[in-house]
Amino acid sequence: MSSRVDVSIVIPTYNERENIARLIKVLHDLMVENGFSYEIVVVDDNSPDGTADAVRAAQNHYNVKLIVRPGKMGLASAVLEGFRAARGSLLAVMDADFQHPPEALPEMLKKALGECDVVVGSRYVRGGSTRGWSPPRKIISRGADLIAKVLLPKTRKIKDTMSGYFVLRREVIDGVSLDPRGFKILLEVLVKGRYRKACEHPIEFRARVWGKSKLGTTEIFNYLLHVLNLAHESIRFVLVGGLGTIVNLTALYLLGYLLGVEHWVAVPLAFEVSTLFNFVMHEVWTFKSAFSRGVIKRLAEFHGATVVHFVSQVTVSNALFYGYGVERVVSQLISIVVGFFLNYVLSRYIVWRKALVRF
Ligand code: GDD
Ligand code: MN
Repeated sequence: MSSRVDVSIVIPTYNERENIARLIKVLHDLMVENGFSYEIVVVDDNSPDGTADAVRAAQNHYNVKLIVRPGKMGLASAVLEGFRAARGSLLAVMDADFQHPPEALPEMLKKALGECDVVVGSRYVRGGSTRGWSPPRKIISRGADLIAKVLLPKTRKIKDTMSGYFVLRREVIDGVSLDPRGFKILLEVLVKGRYRKACEHPIEFRARVWGKSKLGTTEIFNYLLHVLNLAHESIRFVLVGGLGTIVNLTALYLLGYLLGVEHWVAVPLAFEVSTLFNFVMHEVWTFKSAFSRGVIKRLAEFHGATVVHFVSQVTVSNALFYGYGVERVVSQLISIVVGFFLNYVLSRYIVWRKALVRF
């Protein structure tokens, strides 16, 4: 096993031939100047422009590891691949295209040797900035940041949650399973990592000079999926409930208009269809892999939880309206919240209770 170095700098590349050789040299000089022993880990997805060859040439002069994967498999999984190969006590991640200023790295590393377990290169703290970004690009970035902050409380202290430039202590992610489908690895780290203090370091996010950006609609869609996957079970539970309501209405519509089923028959049928939909979604997504017993038992129990939901809703709504004179819509709304809460608690702690060995 090769010996430890102070820092492993992980750089994912796809078509960065123009950039990577320059970046390696700049990083080498910076690390030497600042007294850090280093290794650079380039993870290239078999870039057609010959990025890997440029890296191989650099290996003659600098401490560079090269991992070449068979094809374009995504930025996040590339970073994780780099982490696996990394030997450093500190792990740094940056883009190859000079949008992340290399000069900031020594300061970020020093912070990570000090009191910060994670150091994020940030555009949105004092001294940080974005240069040459179009308004749509800015809006997408801020929107994505907002979604993360709403759904993932652990990311709220960080101003620039979308950053791809960061340093962390190895211990932060040791033994933590990070999702390679996750689009923004920093989010995975902030939500799942073991750290006490996450800091930000101002950077100027520069315009790209060579090559082009790979951000597209697929990335945006993947991002949304990623954040929802990282979100707390209760958030996923409520989201499934919302979708279930749409399923209920759709089923009712189809039964009534297409099949001519009587309304009083269609109502419970639609209700059952949405209950089954919710059940499947909770099985495969909300509470995935948390089960200890058989599926039939869970299905029965979930129906029980749904009955409790229904009964509590009717009871609470009527009690508030008749007993306490609360306005009708407000009564109903409160009863819905109470019903959801009970259903969640029963689902989480009884239907999909985790196997004891997990604790
Ligand atoms: N191996 C590999 N595989 N590398 C990839 C892939 C891939 O599928 N896709 C992109 N990369 C590499 C690029 O070559 C570059 O080094 C880095 O990942 C970032 O890709 P860009 O295409 O330059 O990303 P960007 O500038 O649009 O987006 C950046 O947005 C954030 C700020 O909002 C992200 O990459 C973040 O790192 C950045 O901070
Ligand atoms: Mn870029």
